Amino acid sequence: MNLPAVSKEHSAEELTALAKQTLVANDRGGYTVPTAGLYPFQWNWDAGVTALGWMTFDQQRAWDEFHSLLRGQWQSGAQEGLIPHIIFHQNADSYFPGPDQWGCEADGSVRNIPTTSICQPPLHATMIRAMLDMGADPAITEKNLKPIVQGLVKHHRWWYRCRDPFDTGLVFSSHPWESGMDNSPAWDAPLANVPRTTRAYTRKDLGHVDSSMRPTQEFYDRVVYLMDFNRSVAFDPIRIAKESPYRVNDICIISILNRASHSLAGLCDQLGLMDAAIFLRARCAMTAAAISQLWSEKLGQYVSRNAITGELLQAPTHAGFLTWYGRLVEPSRDAQQQATLLAWLSETPYALPSTRSSYPGFEPARYWRGPIWQHLTTLIAEGLDRCGHTELGKRLHQSTAALFAKSGFYEYYHPLTGAGLGGGSFSWTAATYLFWNYLHDHQLHLQDLRAA
Ligand code: DGY
Repeated sequence: MNLPAVSKEHSAEELTALAKQTLVANDRGGYTVPTAGLYPFQWNWDAGVTALGWMTFDQQRAWDEFHSLLRGQWQSGAQEGLIPHIIFHQNADSYFPGPDQWGCEADGSVRNIPTTSICQPPLHATMIRAMLDMGADPAITEKNLKPIVQGLVKHHRWWYRCRDPFDTGLVFSSHPWESGMDNSPAWDAPLANVPRTTRAYTRKDLGHVDSSMRPTQEFYDRVVYLMDFNRSVAFDPIRIAKESPYRVNDICIISILNRASHSLAGLCDQLGLMDAAIFLRARCAMTAAAISQLWSEKLGQYVSRNAITGELLQAPTHAGFLTWYGRLVEPSRDAQQQATLLAWLSETPYALPSTRSSYPGFEPARYWRGPIWQHLTTLIAEGLDRCGHTELGKRLHQSTAALFAKSGFYEYYHPLTGAGLGGGSFSWTAATYLFWNYLHDHQLHLQDLRAA
């Protein structure tokens, strides 16, 4: 059920009520679907953001989001620790590719629940650190924290073991859906080397959202090929690392993983898991030592890299600005990247487009090729704030607040008009609103949160 769209400026009280109703309506019993119909399962990084929203009015429900996610974690085999990008808790026929497409059925050994075979940006530990500072009830925290942290430690070990098996300091992603930024123009070049599948399949997304806001058919043909490739190598992580036709050092994943490893190390300190804390900090140090390889002098920002050819992917996307959030910006490059961001901000009335508007590949309404994704803007704003660039952080925050008031809780927004796009009644958007509002009501500044 989609809630009524917001079509005029709304007050904070109205938006708070609508945001809570959105989460409740999308609750499927311990997990939240991003939006009904278009995305009828539990998505990995959505769950982390959505938990922050639940935390503002139902603490146990916030922790349940993580317990549900961890029920889909792979428990044995070479990919032990993977938390897949979709957990198919129940079947639903409104989505392609659903549980029958991935070859990852429940088998009681590797998996108890059918899942996909790829991952998503692992922001969970950082969200949990934030939750602990949001008036967390000690009794509820005590009951929930340790098993979730243990699951996340396994997951971070998976990332470093399976996605950086040669210890370069920079993990790779093996599928555009794994980056979360599905059809970003940054992936155009590496995806061009992936064959188009020749098998028949039927997309379901176009039954929910206009095709002008969704990825192209060619994109789907290539990502379906990659899904089938994983199954063809029996999900062997070393074969994926050596043979997958798509391997990208994705600056979004690298930044989010690095920040979350710092957060998780802090949680491990708190729980006395010292080996894990040492391991995580050592991996963060390796990433910090390698990050200069992803600097683009041409664009004045960090970018992703094709891990097969070694070429930097010179598409100006907002992902590079996550390096502040990831605690990865080198001091010598900070001022230049701030200047780049300021130039971006002067070009669109709303912030922050996913692709720079002056870039030829910018498409303001098409998914990750131009629209604003407010949860990403929020993470970037938080990173800026934490690095002392408070004015820039404030501008991003104000723009996000203006989008919520104008258009309500959509999947993404048009950077030139502020119109809501994609799916409506969207969980992580509503959750982000609730989180910001909580900080405002409690006069908390992001820097007050220990989400290290
Ligand atoms: C989709 O189906 O568009 C999702 O983003 C994949 O995760």
